[in-house]
Amino acid sequence: MKILVVGGGGREHALCWKLAASPRRPKLYCAPGNAGTSQTAENVAIGAEDIENLLAFATREAIDLTIVGPEDPLCAGIVDRFIEAGLRVFGPTADAARIEGDKAYAKQLMRNAGVPTADARVFGPTVQELAQASQTGRGRDEEVHVQFQRGHDMARDYVASRDEGVVVKACGLAKGKGVFVHPDPSDALLTLENLMVKRTMGEAGDRVVIEEILTGPEVSVLALVDGKNIYILESASDHKRIGEQDTGPNTGGMGACSPSARLTESDLKIVERDVFVPVIDALQREGVTYRGVLYAGLMMTAGGPKILEFNCRFGDPEIQAILMRLESDLLEALEATIDGRLDEIELRWSRGEAVCVVMASGGYPGSYEKGKPITGLEEAAALENVQVLHAGTAFDGDRIVTSGGRVLSVTAIGDTIHDARQRAYAAAKLISFDGAYLRGDIAMRVSGR
Ligand code: AMP
Ligand code: GLY
Repeated sequence: MKILVVGGGGREHALCWKLAASPRRPKLYCAPGNAGTSQTAENVAIGAEDIENLLAFATREAIDLTIVGPEDPLCAGIVDRFIEAGLRVFGPTADAARIEGDKAYAKQLMRNAGVPTADARVFGPTVQELAQASQTGRGRDEEVHVQFQRGHDMARDYVASRDEGVVVKACGLAKGKGVFVHPDPSDALLTLENLMVKRTMGEAGDRVVIEEILTGPEVSVLALVDGKNIYILESASDHKRIGEQDTGPNTGGMGACSPSARLTESDLKIVERDVFVPVIDALQREGVTYRGVLYAGLMMTAGGPKILEFNCRFGDPEIQAILMRLESDLLEALEATIDGRLDEIELRWSRGEAVCVVMASGGYPGSYEKGKPITGLEEAAALENVQVLHAGTAFDGDRIVTSGGRVLSVTAIGDTIHDARQRAYAAAKLISFDGAYLRGDIAMRVSGR
């Protein structure tokens, strides 16, 4: 069996590593992959967003199953294209992936489904006006231009009336960098100017969601959804901020642990009943069938769990920690999702705890340098119960060098969270590259232990 994994981050290395352990011994390809994926898969030099070339490759090589990691190709319709071509593929179609790609849509869906979430309003041109603007060019259509301006004015007025501060979210995809929490409304005005006038995030920020600031610990709940059945995976917690004690700007995620001590088994059942079931039903009412992973980002507020966002894919780095604990065959679970058989499977999980510590390039999530040689990878990987999963790494001749912001996901499993932390940090300590940065408090406060 030939499998193509699309993407080149820590999530995709984790997927390749776990798929390679399948008793069905698949032949793996990863596009574009990284230095780590090449341990178990053949890297293919096609970008994750280059849908046409991925399709041509999968057709030419007679790939039996394609698994899509990142959100950009999913939102751009890679799954639709593969299905049209008669290829087997894991992930939601574009209309379903919109739950991540359009935050205004996701908010409306949550309202329709009666799912608890922050109070919010949407500002900016409508979807139709945006489509018109991208066809005619924003400056050329006077009517649309007026809508852009009106949206910004209305957003400003709204923010000015919210003394308690607001969260401003770019509606479109922004690689985890489109959310701004502003306790001070004057900062929010600057963000609006950046997004809606200076267009620092391009089209993604033409529309914004402005919502109330919620407080509380965060948890990620990921589920496999096969169109009708929902299979909730083990819980995880991510650490989104760059700095220790959750300070500084948001990142893609600086570390994770699984399970999350913030959710009990019975909480998970409640989340399934009150979040996943109504959302999947609401989508179905719109004629959208969801197949793939649905990821709910929750905040445990004093008023109960509330949804911050949905993602249409595995969380990165959450899935690194979750897969570290999966004892069953991942391939079987993914195929059951595609075939609508999730009611027939039972996944086995290690009772241990997993911790993933991200090593990043100095400067991330701002600008950073690439091409720094990495040492100590083999020594770290030789430690017991440790997996050194690669994200932004590449080969430079025989050497492995940095090639991205998040460079490595050093993941370990232990009998206790303390044990797992010690193993992950001991491994990270053996690895070095110029400017390496990691948070020293991953899974510390989350664990509550
Ligand atoms: P999102 O991409 O919507 O999950 O937002 C990224 C991060 O921003 C979340 O993980 C939270 O830390 C933070 N965030 C999002 N929405 C809110 C909110 N309403 N109140 C406080 N923090 C939020
Ligand atoms: N770790 C957050 C995300 O995958 O969106």
